[in-house]
Amino acid sequence: MDQIIEYIRNNKQRFIDELIEFLKIPSLSAQSRHKADCERAADFVRKQFSQLGLDAQLHPTAGNPIVTARHTSPENKTTVLIYGHYDVQPPEPLDLWTSPPFEPRIEGDNIIARGATDDKGQLFTHIKAVEAHLKTNARLPVNLIFVIEGEEEVAGVHVSEFIRTHRDDLKCDVAVVSDSSQYAPNMPALCYGLRGICAQEIRVQGPKQDLHSGSFGGAVANPVNVLCQMIAQLKDESGKIRIPGFYDDVLPLEQWEREAFAALPWDDEAFRQSLGVKALHGEETYTSIERKWARPTLDVNGIFGGYNGEGAKTIIPAWGGAKITMRLVPNQNPQTISRLFRDFIRKITPPTVEVSFIDHSSCGPVIVKRSAPFVAEALESLRRGFGAEPVFIREGGSIPIVLTIQQELNVHALLLGFGLPDDNAHGPNEKLSLTDFERGIRTSATFFHLCAQK
Ligand code: BES
Ligand code: ZN
Repeated sequence: MDQIIEYIRNNKQRFIDELIEFLKIPSLSAQSRHKADCERAADFVRKQFSQLGLDAQLHPTAGNPIVTARHTSPENKTTVLIYGHYDVQPPEPLDLWTSPPFEPRIEGDNIIARGATDDKGQLFTHIKAVEAHLKTNARLPVNLIFVIEGEEEVAGVHVSEFIRTHRDDLKCDVAVVSDSSQYAPNMPALCYGLRGICAQEIRVQGPKQDLHSGSFGGAVANPVNVLCQMIAQLKDESGKIRIPGFYDDVLPLEQWEREAFAALPWDDEAFRQSLGVKALHGEETYTSIERKWARPTLDVNGIFGGYNGEGAKTIIPAWGGAKITMRLVPNQNPQTISRLFRDFIRKITPPTVEVSFIDHSSCGPVIVKRSAPFVAEALESLRRGFGAEPVFIREGGSIPIVLTIQQELNVHALLLGFGLPDDNAHGPNEKLSLTDFERGIRTSATFFHLCAQK
């Protein structure tokens, strides 16, 4: 292993240069005009694998292509599946970036670009760990299957279809996903829980076209006003969601888990300040960590309708709409929640408007048992890779495919996050620490080594 660690150190600069090329590709899955960029990013990943001599393939889908790569040697006992995503979130608002999002810039120890941490930089660590093994020993100690997709950020359905239809080819002993964070700087983490999601869009239709608010105002319901009144009924002042049955399947936090969360270093005031909010908010009997990791939410992500241009315009808009996401925790089911949400909205819709719905992303919550196979190896790899004691955490975000991997391939997924909570994923000036990039490569390389020893 020492030679492998040295190879990583000696080649770090070239790894960074290659990552920069990857980060230059604006592979936004949310916007159809970037489809060709997504294909370029997929091809970039495929080439990385081919250059290492892995059996790499591009699988076209009705959406963005999936890249797989495989290494098998008869003497290896263990097969590790590694999942990552090459697609990124839209970079807007652009004016808040200190440099253009797809012109990666190094500042101090950080590389700044959209996708630096989520997830190009993190998935790259595993590719470079493979390289380090192959270039040092001319062999890999484990069999590997990479599945790198391009629709994670839009919860695309193609990768789950792919996993379902390639179950036999993807047979493995353990899955590894690096698309989350350390708990804090120098506190690497094994994440054992992710929230699920149920994303809904509602449309409230009023008059057949915009009306003069002087001539008609007062005699016709305004659909944007109605929408706001309906949204206001979804939660009470304490933040509790008022949809009947919403909490029925929520597994209460157990005492041991509350104690484990409470034992992690945490400072509410520093958290408040770091976010620039006047005060924190959430369910009263829960701590901030519990609220973020283990309680369900309902948030309006965007609300639209009517006139939003310069100056004033006196209309009653024809329609209003809102995008809403609910983050789900064990054992909530996104389909059940979608039904409860719609039933409640229909119940509170006044007779003056017509309401309709669009289902967006959904996925179930995930828990990985701490007693799962290879957890000990993962912890030891983090310990050696980061030179610090890892902690167990949960995260509030969602990685839709993790549940599919666990259910369809019947393996546990180990979430080894190499990013930091303040990496600005999805926000302006997304970054990744280059030290953590190297530590991530070391962790991955060590994990392959330890899995072979098992
Ligand atoms: N890397 C994130 C998931 C994540 C976020 C893990 C925060 C840990 C902490 C992932 O790329 C992501 O953002 N997923 C989306 C999924 C959604 C579109 C279904 C998310 O959570 O919003
Ligand atoms: Zn993301």
